[in-house]
Amino acid sequence: MATRKARIIAVVNEKGGVGKTVTVINLGAGLSLEGKDVLVVDMDPQFNATRGLGVSLGQDSPSVYDVIKLPEPVPARSAIVKTAWEHLDLLPSHVDLSGVEVELVNEPGRENRLKEALTPVLDLYDFIVVDTPPSLSILTVNVLAFASEILVPCQTQPYAYSALDELLETISIIKEEMNPDIRILGVLATFFDQRTRVSNKILESLRRDGRFQDKLFKTVIRINTTVAESAYYGKPVVFFRPSSTGAADYLALTEEILS
Ligand SMILES: Nc1ncnc2c1ncn2[C@@H]1O[C@H](COP(=O)(O)OP(=O)(O)OP(=O)(O)O)[C@@H](O)[C@H]1O
Ligand SMILES: [Mg+2]
Repeated sequence: MATRKARIIAVVNEKGGVGKTVTVINLGAGLSLEGKDVLVVDMDPQFNATRGLGVSLGQDSPSVYDVIKLPEPVPARSAIVKTAWEHLDLLPSHVDLSGVEVELVNEPGRENRLKEALTPVLDLYDFIVVDTPPSLSILTVNVLAFASEILVPCQTQPYAYSALDELLETISIIKEEMNPDIRILGVLATFFDQRTRVSNKILESLRRDGRFQDKLFKTVIRINTTVAESAYYGKPVVFFRPSSTGAADYLALTEEILS
């Protein structure tokens, strides 16, 4: 078998609650349904992606924290768990991850911890999809140093859009200083509500914006209560209720990324 090397898609937006985690777990699930081997990496100490994939860690189970910590990190393979679904693995998060910023502060190469840890598993997967916290901490910098592509969810709600400037600036710094090959895969309009003028207006201005016209995904993620409900049950919506608009939108996004 030819060796493969995973495409690494980081889902990033410093703004909270824009649909990062839901996008990570449903894109991961969608890709796995297409027969791709997928690893979801949860780099957020809130561990919502871990919960959203129905995983609860035992007291002594290793997490991504143990994989990137210093000294004596554990190999990524020993912390990766299988989810309930075929082709879909998870490197879970843990609240301890919130201490990493302080713990690694004097460590040289601290922004490359995730990359170093996951390089040995790159050929096991077709896709690695990474969730990030809503901040520009050392955790997000580790993700940006490791990723090949960035997906930016943007709420079609007031103010969401203006926060993108800062993010684009951050990405250009990362590109210059540590990861020259990183590129924006796309901007994803989320929380779209057809009935509201503001949602339509923001979608329209995203479509017209010169900075990422060609980067805006054709797929738009609509508001759908089933999405939030499925998270509560620890299942991606594409598995929880395949007939929902939430599932349809995320499967369309998967298709768009694969085509
Ligand atoms: N399309 C949608 N329709 C309805 N609810 C949604 C949708 N997408 C996400 N949600 C809900 O909105 C909330 C925020 O979504 P999510 O957790 O994915 O955002 P986030 O960007 O990861 O947030 P944080 O920055 O806190 O990590 C969650 O309760 C989620 O279930
Ligand atoms: Mg999240």
